[in-house]
Amino acid sequence: MTDEKIVLTGIKPTGIPHIGNYLGALKSLIDMSQKYKTFIFIADLHALNSIHDAREIKQHTYEIAALMIAMGLNLDNTALFRQSDINEIYQLTEFLMNVTPKGLMNRAHSYKAMVEKNTESGVDIDSGINMGLYTYPILMAADILLYNSDIVPVGKDQKQHVEFARDIAGYFNNIYGETFKLPEPVIGEDCGLIPGLDGRKMSKSYDNTIPLLCPRNELKKKIMRIITDSKAPEESKNPDESTIFLIYKLFANTNETAALRKRFLDGGMGYGEAKTILFEKIDSVLSEPRERYEHLMATPSEIDTILNQGAQRAHIVASKVLSKVKKKMLG
Ligand code: ADP
Ligand code: TRP
Repeated sequence: MTDEKIVLTGIKPTGIPHIGNYLGALKSLIDMSQKYKTFIFIADLHALNSIHDAREIKQHTYEIAALMIAMGLNLDNTALFRQSDINEIYQLTEFLMNVTPKGLMNRAHSYKAMVEKNTESGVDIDSGINMGLYTYPILMAADILLYNSDIVPVGKDQKQHVEFARDIAGYFNNIYGETFKLPEPVIGEDCGLIPGLDGRKMSKSYDNTIPLLCPRNELKKKIMRIITDSKAPEESKNPDESTIFLIYKLFANTNETAALRKRFLDGGMGYGEAKTILFEKIDSVLSEPRERYEHLMATPSEIDTILNQGAQRAHIVASKVLSKVKKKMLG
């Protein structure tokens, strides 16, 4: 049974999903897919403003799709598809351009951040800004409005874009009468920032990530590279300041977490041993999904089949919404 509400989100194919992405965003989507009718698309058109290498976008698209499937996305309730496969998206974007004030785009955080960076470095304010970046929130509004979405789970950084989608829906409804539902952004429960290998926030931009479903030996190598302080094995250690412990508790159950906490505090455990415990925990939790993931990545035709089925389901809703909009705007 699914709830009536429609959940929608897009994931930009700009890198291999890491543990931070999974625990901070993807996991809660997979949980929601058990309960709600869900549209999840790989936002390949949104990646275009920064990645101009088709192979890279295609590869990351497969990685994200395979990871979501392998981690248990409920495909009965979910249409999983490529953003670019739905022709209506290009059309709705064009229609929405004409009710969106330019000033709204000037206020977008991502655009403003680029302008500020350019101003600080004394170059032309529009340097490195293409129209894909400038009009990004309109494409995103089209994504959201095309599928009658009610709930849009996003990270904090994307909240403003979802609010813009509401604004744009409002401008349209004011001119042409009630047409679009107003979507709600839902900012995932803050699981705290997952630390990376060097203790800073795990992020592609810091090159300190642990990919979620990498091969076993790569996982081990990464974990062994976690930076620690120089406490000797016999010394007591503060678990809450240790990246090893902070990541461990996200994969372990309450009893296991309490046991490791005690070993940190008691002393007598070196960081090498703590890393091995962490590795074994993650490895045991992820070994089955990793097998499914590796199978899918080796047979991309299976991923294509799922993405194509998703696109067909998405297209049914999209075509209805688009024809309503077209009729209202052009008669
Ligand atoms: P990155 O910093 O690696 O470029 P993104 O900015 O693409 O990651 O993040 C995509 C999603 O994953 C966002 O919703 C973000 O909140 C979540 N996320 C990324 N890194 C972390 C982290 N270290 N801890 C918690 N959530 C994270
Ligand atoms: N802009 C989002 C990001 O950078 C991805 C995205 C594209 C999206 N379209 C969307 C998210 C629609 C939610 C709804 O992460």
